[in-house]
Amino acid sequence: MANIEKKPWTEVYDGGGPEVEREGFHQLARAMLDIQEKNREFAGASQAMRTLHSKILVGVTNAELRMDLDLPHSFSVCHFTPGEVLGAAIRFSNASGVPKRDDAADMRGIAIKLALPHGQSHDLLMTNYPVSHARNANQFVQFATIAMGDSATFKERLVAHFGADDAMRMITAVMNGMRPSAGLQTEAFWSRGALLWGTFPVRLLLRPCIDSNVDQSEAVPATADGLREGFANVLNTRPVAFRLAIQSYLDEERTPIEDAAVEWLESVAPPVEVGTLVIPSQNILSEDGLRAMAHVNELAFNPWNAPPLFRPLGNINRARGEVYGASAKAWGASPHG
Ligand code: HEM
Repeated sequence: MANIEKKPWTEVYDGGGPEVEREGFHQLARAMLDIQEKNREFAGASQAMRTLHSKILVGVTNAELRMDLDLPHSFSVCHFTPGEVLGAAIRFSNASGVPKRDDAADMRGIAIKLALPHGQSHDLLMTNYPVSHARNANQFVQFATIAMGDSATFKERLVAHFGADDAMRMITAVMNGMRPSAGLQTEAFWSRGALLWGTFPVRLLLRPCIDSNVDQSEAVPATADGLREGFANVLNTRPVAFRLAIQSYLDEERTPIEDAAVEWLESVAPPVEVGTLVIPSQNILSEDGLRAMAHVNELAFNPWNAPPLFRPLGNINRARGEVYGASAKAWGASPHG
């Protein structure tokens, strides 16, 4: 049995304090805007797109997060109470900044906007690989900037910038994360970075509910929009559900807050299931379904759109508030998002 004694936790700011660190985030936001503009040119688009995750696969406005009736007391915080049902809009995406065919190797993302009382919302963002290639926000943005250059010299330039060990570690993580998908309903998703859950740091994961009585071999059509079409076929016949689970911080070595490249192993920080995300059976390709998808695509999702008790933690996550905000402003996110 793993030692699950929790240690006190803290955040360590780049440059020694929040103000200095925040200065660095302005530069990261500018670097990501340069990438956004290059992607727009490359795609031949007239308007800027999301700097990452530009292609929406599925968008629905009628999902629900149903918290478990026996939600453990320590996870019962704010709107996450036993039996609570929260309405949710969901955007599934391909991770690439330039829209690609769905059968291309890529990571996939899920962005969830939970509806809270008084018109507030709470966003949860996850990707279908458990760990980030980047230890921190600088590495993330530098990697993305280097990846924009000539692909023939990419590895060489990465090694020159990060050194051989870190460069190879990052390439391996990215290559492992980028793969074709057998269907969005089969994917698990991870927050990868830490966030506060009341008083202590956690990471989140979503695991697909696999019903052994249902044939899981639903095909993903080999078309440009195959993941959307495959998911539409599934939703035409049944709802799709994922279990939300929480891993709790133990200590900076095994479950680091500041190093997003370290996986919080399930054997070390066992996930505790707390609720079910349900997407009702529906026709997402009907006129109404496509209207809902277009609406979701206009919404800005940001991990910092969260009540203070669920503040994102760690350098990689602290940077995201400003970086996502700048990206969304440039592509013209809906002001009501
Ligand atoms: C490490 C954990 C991370 C996860 C799980 C994650 C996940 C996601 C997801 C799911 C989206 C799509 C949101 C949508 O559907 O609107 C997204 C978008 C984006 N991500 Fe991340 N991301 C991570 C880290 C980062 C970092 C470190 C940066 C840069 C500092 C970054 C930059 C962006 C940008 C610029 C967008 C587009 C936002 C917009 O234009 O609205 N991400 N990310």
